[in-house]
Amino acid sequence: MSTDQNPSVPGSKDGTELIRFDRVTKRFGSNTVLDNLDFTVAPGKHVTLIGPSGSGKTTILRLLMTLIRPDEGTIRVDGDCLTHEDKGGVLHPAGEKHIREVRKKIGMVFQQFNLFPNMKVLRNITEAPVHVLGMSKDEAEERARELLELVGLTEHIDKYPTQLSGGQQQRVAIARALAMRPQVLLLDEVTSALDPELVAGVLDVLRDIAHSTDITMLCVTHEMNFARDISDDVLMFDQGKVIESGSPEKIFNDPENERTREFLSAIL
Ligand SMILES: Nc1ncnc2c1ncn2[C@@H]1O[C@H](COP(=O)(O)OP(=O)(O)O)[C@@H](O)[C@H]1O
Ligand SMILES: [Mg+2]
Repeated sequence: MSTDQNPSVPGSKDGTELIRFDRVTKRFGSNTVLDNLDFTVAPGKHVTLIGPSGSGKTTILRLLMTLIRPDEGTIRVDGDCLTHEDKGGVLHPAGEKHIREVRKKIGMVFQQFNLFPNMKVLRNITEAPVHVLGMSKDEAEERARELLELVGLTEHIDKYPTQLSGGQQQRVAIARALAMRPQVLLLDEVTSALDPELVAGVLDVLRDIAHSTDITMLCVTHEMNFARDISDDVLMFDQGKVIESGSPEKIFNDPENERTREFLSAIL
């Protein structure tokens, strides 16, 4: 195995990269969805992935959530390898326990809110901190109340998900993800399933989180004004590769790649 796949190589745990994909390939059958993909996200940065449907954006987030595994390449989170573990200097495919530990650094909000339907809002937020992190119930509830204030839902703490609008449910899902104190928040088209009048409220909450916390964000969105507001970097994806990247000003005002221009003119 080449040295750059070794999780202990210099630079891999020096705090300059929170997420690192090295030559990651993912195939579904004969369909190569990610093709030798390299990219990094520095701590505290907000990086947005844009690109046509089917270009592999969700696959990147699902790899980070370990819902699927890459066919080739390595993925590191905060220097720890998500794909392999070092046992006495020899790399082995990562085991479940190792994956669970690295996974704790990552929170995700999905397009469909995926709340626990049988639990009230408060318990939706406290469940994982108590059962996965071993946090005391009191501490988890105190934290949940702070987060509900952050997402503007304090008065809904005792409701069930079905008693809330889609936008409110998505704000609970954001609070639930943050309750695990992740280092990075993954957001996959979190407003795409919402009625149009509910989109702004959710984006306002995310803008607030982006500007008032130091959490790292990796965000897939078609909301280009939002992407412009919060992003440090925008990565344009096509056919499993980053075809162009840069500041939001650069990508949105002066894209160099023809496919980026076509994509943006089709959606803006
Ligand atoms: N579980 C799966 N099985 C087979 N093909 C999949 C699976 N997940 C995604 N794909 C395929 O991978 C490609 C990229 O999908 P995805 O990452 O969801 O794209 P995006 O989020 O950019 O729209 C698509 O062609 C999709 O059909
Ligand atoms: Mg997707």
